[in-house]
Amino acid sequence: MQINPMIRNNICLNSHPKGCAEATRAQIRYVRKEMSDGPVPAGIPKLVLVVGCSTGYGLASRIAAAFGYGAATVGVSYEKAGSESKAGTPGWYDNLAFDTEAAKEGLAALTLDGDAFSSAMKADAIKAIREVAAKAGIPAKVDLVVYSLASPVRSDPDDGTLYRSVIKPIGKPYAGLAMDVLSGALTEVSVESATDEEISHTVKVMGGEDWALWIEALGEAGVLAPEARTVAYSYIGPELSWGIYKEGTIGRAKEHLDATAKKLDARLRASGGAAWVSVNKALVTRSSAVIPIISLYISSLFKVMKAKGLHEGCIEQIVRLYRHRLYSAAAARDPSKVATDAEGRIRIDDLEMRADVQQETAKLMAEIDEGNLAEKADYAGFRHDFLETHGFDVAGVDYDADVDPSGL
Ligand SMILES: NC(=O)c1ccc[n+]([C@@H]2O[C@H](COP(=O)([O-])OP(=O)(O)OC[C@H]3O[C@@H](n4cnc5c(N)ncnc54)[C@H](O)[C@@H]3O)[C@@H](O)[C@H]2O)c1
Repeated sequence: MQINPMIRNNICLNSHPKGCAEATRAQIRYVRKEMSDGPVPAGIPKLVLVVGCSTGYGLASRIAAAFGYGAATVGVSYEKAGSESKAGTPGWYDNLAFDTEAAKEGLAALTLDGDAFSSAMKADAIKAIREVAAKAGIPAKVDLVVYSLASPVRSDPDDGTLYRSVIKPIGKPYAGLAMDVLSGALTEVSVESATDEEISHTVKVMGGEDWALWIEALGEAGVLAPEARTVAYSYIGPELSWGIYKEGTIGRAKEHLDATAKKLDARLRASGGAAWVSVNKALVTRSSAVIPIISLYISSLFKVMKAKGLHEGCIEQIVRLYRHRLYSAAAARDPSKVATDAEGRIRIDDLEMRADVQQETAKLMAEIDEGNLAEKADYAGFRHDFLETHGFDVAGVDYDADVDPSGL
């Protein structure tokens, strides 16, 4: 069958197996090129667990660890397999492509599909860590845990209560322009303020509780290296989005993530490890296209950053995170040398937040309307990235050819 994008309300309902695989291989090629400049120095991770490994920042984190540092990896994600008649989710194909390329290169890797919030998945991951370590001939001690989940729901592992996360402002409604990915139409949308329950539920899903449970489970099972490092991802962004993001429900969850990082850090530092939140750049991933104002902001930001030669995608961001922050020459053996801001967060959103970039982006956004969007902003780039995360619009893929969605 042929597969064409089915998009409703900025959500793409299907994906293209070959396109997802090719986009994943393109990230692998980038990593090989950028990270293959010499022997891997001491202190670099050898056994890496990525929670949320299939798409976006998590996939990039796994690719860079495996193909950049030669690490054995265990990945956990929640994706839907394709069948003969129906395409699966993009992450399903991304994982298949990762596994295929890792096997070709002789890299030990296991990918688990299921609910990362559950205790059963934590037990499965611990088993997988032991298996992967045995295959790689290294001790079963994870030395890097990347926590990159973005989920709308979480079922409490103890009592089964279902919590839903929402993207809403707190205290007052938020009005901003939403951009339709397909047509470029701009519509003023207003989002009502969250209830107290919505706030606490969002913190329960997207805060740090589950991250801490992962570290605890790994520690108790004896599969966490004493010098283990762990990082979870966050976003801050420009003031004009704070109403819906930083000062909204997700922002509250990210505050909880910050507080969790401090607690985990205190625990891990005692044995030579460390925990951080890394604040990353705004990018088009499956999660970010549905937040009002963010898609218009990203389109404007990309225009400015591309013009200045500063643009990065997920993989460029993560390669920089590893090489210039987490495992820089100074920090590879000593986590206290990892560059952070005053709050202890790693900032790879530094280029996005540069004063000149922010000023020019804000100026551009003030000038944009539906008539000049394509010319003034990088609407084409946004649209391309959105399609590409679902395996469409990927260079070198023949979209007229028949494809079997049950595999690659
Ligand atoms: N996209 C951005 O612009 C951006 C910017 C900065 C920080 N971040 C942060 O990075 C993190 C990852 O975001 P992303 O945009 O890469 O998201 P994404 O949607 O591309 O990836 C989310 C991952 O979580 C997995 N997942 C979701 N629910 C799961 C569950 N119950 N069990 C197992 N796996 C599950 C998915 O399978 C996928 O692998 C988030 O914390 C996000 O806030 C994103």
